[in-house]
Amino acid sequence: MKLLVIGSGGREHAIAWKLAQSPLVEQVFVAPGNAGTALEAKLENVPITSIPELAVFARQETINLTVVGPEAPLTEGIVDTFQAAGLRIFGPGQFAAQLEGSKNFAKAFMLSHGIPTAASETFSDATAAHRYLDQHSLPVVIKADGLAAGKGVIVAQTLAEAHAAVDAMLVDNRLGAAGAHILIEDYLEGEEASFIVVSDGKHVLPLATSQDHKRLLDNDEGPNTGGMGAYSPAPVITPALYDEIMQKVILPVIHGMAQQGHPYTGFLYAGLMISPQGEVRVLEFNCRLGDPETQAILLRLKSDLFTLLDHAVNGTLDQVRIEWDQRSALCVVMAAQGYPDNPRKNDEIHGLESMVARQNETSEFHVFHAGTTSGSQHPGKILTSGGRVLGVAALGENIRQARSNAYAIAEDIRFDGCQLRRDIGHKGIPD
Ligand code: AMP
Ligand code: GLY
Repeated sequence: MKLLVIGSGGREHAIAWKLAQSPLVEQVFVAPGNAGTALEAKLENVPITSIPELAVFARQETINLTVVGPEAPLTEGIVDTFQAAGLRIFGPGQFAAQLEGSKNFAKAFMLSHGIPTAASETFSDATAAHRYLDQHSLPVVIKADGLAAGKGVIVAQTLAEAHAAVDAMLVDNRLGAAGAHILIEDYLEGEEASFIVVSDGKHVLPLATSQDHKRLLDNDEGPNTGGMGAYSPAPVITPALYDEIMQKVILPVIHGMAQQGHPYTGFLYAGLMISPQGEVRVLEFNCRLGDPETQAILLRLKSDLFTLLDHAVNGTLDQVRIEWDQRSALCVVMAAQGYPDNPRKNDEIHGLESMVARQNETSEFHVFHAGTTSGSQHPGKILTSGGRVLGVAALGENIRQARSNAYAIAEDIRFDGCQLRRDIGHKGIPD
């Protein structure tokens, strides 16, 4: 069986690596992939990114199943295009992917299906937005409606910051069409948690719990990023909370989408705020796996990922169970100098070669690549080529142990300007 994974980040490296472990899978193409996916057994990079060309490739190579990593192709309708061409693909269709692609759509969907979330108002006119803000309590949250690569949410502590965010989006068009509509949302207090499930449109299987760290610097300081690290399981999700999230958030989405004639097939990621009183509210939905949550989660997955996704596409998820390694996993992201605003490229990465040899002999850890390239001008070298460069994921008896294992490996990898947080997992470790 030949598979195709779409994307080039650490999440896609982890997905492709895990799919390739299936005895049913002969080869996994990764489009476009990175220097890490190029090095893995059974994986092969293909330099294609346009949806029509991907569909042609899938047909020519008789790809049995395509798995989509990032949100952009999902919101652009890759699943609809593949399905119309009779190609098997795992992910939500364009309609359902609006849950991530439009915060306005997501908010309206939540309201109509009784899913708990913060109150908000939508604006496209700056004057009206400013007037509304003047009546609003602080802090207040300004969100761009569309996809903005992590730059679309501003938690404003002062009115000045809030007004500036409105102007940046609605007047200066800093985020282009993504910021042409904004939501002004009530600030929610509490602890954040993520909850990710796989659905076939009718049935739902929750994945192991996980938590990421979005801020660049230790102690959750500095700007928001795509995620600087993650761990699994996340103790914040207690069994009682788990049931509540399923009943109040996940199942209403799956049933609501089915009712609206757009069954949700794919990964569904709910970003949640758990209030000090233990109430669950949705901050956002993503229509895909999290990055770097996936790197930690898949290191713990004992079941065959291909079999799982194959059932999901067939609508038979009720016939499978997922088995997890009972140990913990933790992923530390090594990011480039200047990330997130202006990441520097072309720094040579040292220490990867011996790591590849070591990791092929163990399932205890894996170095997942993201912004890396092995450009033809630099034979034998691997260079940085993006903001998040590597994700070092390791298992351990508990989060503390997984953390010390992951950091020990990260110590052996070097590149100029590397930024990494030193406190990944701190929230999951008892004091
Ligand atoms: P989002 O992309 O909507 O998850 O927002 C990014 C980050 O902004 C979240 O992870 C939270 O840390 C923060 N955030 C978003 N919405 C709210 C809110 N209503 N109240 C407090 N923090 C929020
Ligand atoms: N780590 C957060 C995300 O993937 O959206």
